[in-house]
Amino acid sequence: MTDTTPLSSPPDAAAERAERVEHRWATAAVAILVLFVALATFAALHLAAMPQSRVETADPITLHLDGEFIDSNLGSALEPDGSVIVRGIGQQYSFTPSCMLIPNDTPITFRATSADVVHGFLITGTNINLMLVPGYISSLNARFETPGERLMPCHEFCGVGHEGMWGRIKIVDKAVFARLAASRRRLSCVE
Ligand code: CUA
Repeated sequence: MTDTTPLSSPPDAAAERAERVEHRWATAAVAILVLFVALATFAALHLAAMPQSRVETADPITLHLDGEFIDSNLGSALEPDGSVIVRGIGQQYSFTPSCMLIPNDTPITFRATSADVVHGFLITGTNINLMLVPGYISSLNARFETPGERLMPCHEFCGVGHEGMWGRIKIVDKAVFARLAASRRRLSCVE
């Protein structure tokens, strides 16, 4: 390294110490950079090796024509194992079904997608918070212990009607739900 001190005065102890400290900081800074690059590389490779476990697609153009999200398949379905799958669609500016019926004390799987632009799927008072992205199916497992009603405001700006895009969730006693499910294939609380 070059000695930048004037030739007349030999480097004193203070200058040497300053240089040592400077080196230490330079080393630390490089180490932090290397760490960040390593973390970014790991994250990229890790994600590439293990993609999100359920990347599922649904063509927004043909949603209503056939497949999982046709109109007659939307709403809550009681599965043979006792769990419930709730299927829904977000579109400008509503959710279908606009009121989702859910039993309490039951494993619930939400499966939803968008028919047009990105919408938000959020259930107030819970940590359920999804984005509905056209082309993809958003899926989430949940469980509700106590019956009651919750709101479902769209929380991704989706156009001029965004503010008016609300859905409802109605959680009913599981026995009540089972009784209703005996007579209908898909349930909702849309009147
Ligand atoms: Cu849909 Cu905002």
